[in-house]
Amino acid sequence: MKVLCFGSLNIDYTYQVDHFVQKGETILSKDLQVFPGGKGFNQSIALARAGLKTYMAGKIGTDGLFLKKLLEENNVNTDFIKVSAVEKTGNAIIQNDKDGDNCILLYGGTNQTITREHMDSVLSAFEKGDVLILQNEINDMGYLMEKAHEKGLKIVLNPSPMDEKIEQYPLDLVDIFLLNEVEGAQLLKKKDISFEEMISELWDKYNTTTILTVGEKGAYYKDQQMFFHQEAYVVKAVDTTAAGDTFTGYFLKEYFSGNIRNALQIASLASSIAVTRKGAYPSIPTMEEVKERL
Ligand code: RIB
Repeated sequence: MKVLCFGSLNIDYTYQVDHFVQKGETILSKDLQVFPGGKGFNQSIALARAGLKTYMAGKIGTDGLFLKKLLEENNVNTDFIKVSAVEKTGNAIIQNDKDGDNCILLYGGTNQTITREHMDSVLSAFEKGDVLILQNEINDMGYLMEKAHEKGLKIVLNPSPMDEKIEQYPLDLVDIFLLNEVEGAQLLKKKDISFEEMISELWDKYNTTTILTVGEKGAYYKDQQMFFHQEAYVVKAVDTTAAGDTFTGYFLKEYFSGNIRNALQIASLASSIAVTRKGAYPSIPTMEEVKERL
């Protein structure tokens, strides 16, 4: 089984602020750091650091060549990353506040100009039983999902960041959903619902394995036979960027090894380590670090 993450690569401009800038307000940030990022990039690194042979597909400009190099240094195969000589790599403006929370403004750049020819040529290297992992930061995902399904690939979708396009995609083709409580509420169009009800209703609606992450309240898992709740590890958060991406990478690694209970525990622990460090990519732990903390 080969694992392909087809997703975004970003340059993250992370500003340290006291509070998030408000409408009409101008504030001076305390610090600016530039990190590699993008949900596709982060999840590929997390999958590889968790120990899974990972292929990443996507598109960058020449300003993003360092992202490709970092993937290679982390044992991610980059044969399917295209480089545009004229377009700019996607970027993210991230505000990180004094409580460790963040808010993110994206510029799609090359993440939004991926062609169907590129998608077809990547998929031609994969076969039935392989896994395609997607987030929602690249264009034409519906096409990619349909073609992958036709080839018999399993589809994992992390519908993040959530927007109106998600519901136009063929969500009935998704084999595993990984989402948080905000995305869950948006998909169900419901507020004031318990997390247990939310995961059950997501199951009823999509009839597919679902993992719902709910921050300090941990994570829920549901499939046809099983339902689990995993408590979160309590830590002092300094930056929550890429915590979800870390959870996704570690969960999938252990899930594919066949142990769901273990997958939830390891993924929760790995993401609790990620929030204690700044940045997206630098915060993602290695499997050795995670096992030391167990
Ligand atoms: O999940 C965190 C990521 O979201 C950041 O690295 C940023 O690039 C955005 O894609």
